[in-house]
Amino acid sequence: MGKTTTVVNLGATLAAYEQRTVIVDLDPQSNCTSGLGVEGVDETLGTSYGLIINGSDPNAMVRPTGFPHLSIIPATPNLAGAEVELVGMVGREFRVRDGLRQIEGFRFLLMDCPPALGQLTINALTAADGLLIPIQCEYFALEGVRELMKTIEQVRRFLNPGLEIDGVVLTMFDERTNLARQVADEVRGVFGDLVFETVIPRNVRLAEAPSFGRPIHAYDLRSRGAQAYLHLGREYLSRMEALHG
Ligand SMILES: Nc1ncnc2c1ncn2[C@@H]1O[C@H](COP(=O)(O)OP(=O)(O)O)[C@@H](O)[C@H]1O
Ligand SMILES: [Mg+2]
Repeated sequence: MGKTTTVVNLGATLAAYEQRTVIVDLDPQSNCTSGLGVEGVDETLGTSYGLIINGSDPNAMVRPTGFPHLSIIPATPNLAGAEVELVGMVGREFRVRDGLRQIEGFRFLLMDCPPALGQLTINALTAADGLLIPIQCEYFALEGVRELMKTIEQVRRFLNPGLEIDGVVLTMFDERTNLARQVADEVRGVFGDLVFETVIPRNVRLAEAPSFGRPIHAYDLRSRGAQAYLHLGREYLSRMEALHG
């Protein structure tokens, strides 16, 4: 869908605009962590697993990324175990929320979710003030979103009544196809003004950047992908300022 690509590059863009930002990697695949060049994670310093399962202090786990104003709480593959361990825990939906409550010193905190709507994603939705939904401009794009909307309803009802949808990002847009345009129109029909004006194009530089451990603006600033995420960052910032001051 473009979740990880959006968290990494929107996070990096906010940081480039000098907004202190921390990314919390909640996906056992840890693509955010590696995509920001954080390799060979020392687990003794703490990872998102410790935050969730042991209730460890998140301030101690925040690592610099090498990019100014951008930090990360990394994930390692052991996070996959948390999905199972959480099932037997009291208050399992609130582990991330309660853990991150102690974190200090950031304007923005972005969480990257795994593909499934499991315990880790529920934890993220319970902890979040707002949700960004990337939608890939492909067939069946809206089917996955329908599942997500049901989950959001449940989370609002039982766990986090204040959860807002901060925005919908159209991504991997291929302007040469009618299909992409049709999907974009359909999404705008469903979500209206929640859809950001900025559309992220399909751009090979965005797919290449993670293997160099860099966000797109540090890999190829002139690429269409970089320009799109910079634009999205500005749009997101002004939307957040209008909503929250
Ligand atoms: N705008 C884009 N243009 C080209 N490739 C993209 C774009 N966005 C994401 N990708 C690639 O598509 C794949 C899935 O994207 P990713 O962000 O990892 O999705 P998710 O986190 O939702 O699984 C990755 O290989 C990524 O590099
Ligand atoms: Mg991902």
